[in-house]
Amino acid sequence: MHLPPPLLPLLLLAPFALAAPTPAPAGALATVGKIRGVSTPIYHLYLQANAKNTSIPVLGPEASAEDFTIGATIQSKQTARFLNIVAASTSYKPLVFEAAGTTTAWGLEGDTIITTTGSSFGRQLNFLACKSADSTYYDLYLQTGSDTPSGKTCSNYQTIHLPCLC
Ligand SMILES: *[C@@H]1O[C@H](CO)[C@@H](O)[C@H](O)[C@H]1NC(C)=O
Repeated sequence: MHLPPPLLPLLLLAPFALAAPTPAPAGALATVGKIRGVSTPIYHLYLQANAKNTSIPVLGPEASAEDFTIGATIQSKQTARFLNIVAASTSYKPLVFEAAGTTTAWGLEGDTIITTTGSSFGRQLNFLACKSADSTYYDLYLQTGSDTPSGKTCSNYQTIHLPCLC
C-alpha cells in the first residue's frame, strides 16, 4: 500500500511587521530637521556653516549637515547660532549665522522654508545659490527680485526644504 507523500508546508509565512509612521507629538512647538536643496546644482546639499568662516551659511555635503530648530527663528542644534537675513538694498539678501536670532520672519509651508507673509520680506521662498570660493559649497541669498551678485555664478529660484515632516 502506497502512503501519500508528506505534505509540504506550503504556506511558510514569516511573521512580519508593518512599520507604522510615528505621529508627531501633539502640540510640538517647533520642527527640527536638516535643510536641503532639491534642484541642481544644489540637489541634496545641506545647510551648514562654512568650515572656514562659521558666520557664513552654505549648502554643502550631507556628512556635515547641521540640524535646525525651525520656528519664527532658525537655530542650529550643533552651533546654537541663528540663521539671520542681512538687510541689503539689493533684491538678494545675504544670510548670516549669528548668536542672536534677529530674523523672526521664517516659517514653513509644508516642507518648504519661507519668509512669512506678515514679515518685512513678505512671503518669499526663492533663494539664489551662488558658487562659493570654496568649491564644495554654495552661498545662499534670499531672493526677492532679479538682482544677482556680480562676479558670482548663481542659480535662481532655488527653494530649500526639510527632507520630511518628521
Ligand atoms: C566671515 O563672514 C562674515 C559674514 O560674511 C564677515 O562679516 C566676516 O568678516 C568673515 N570673517 C572672516 C574672518 O573672514
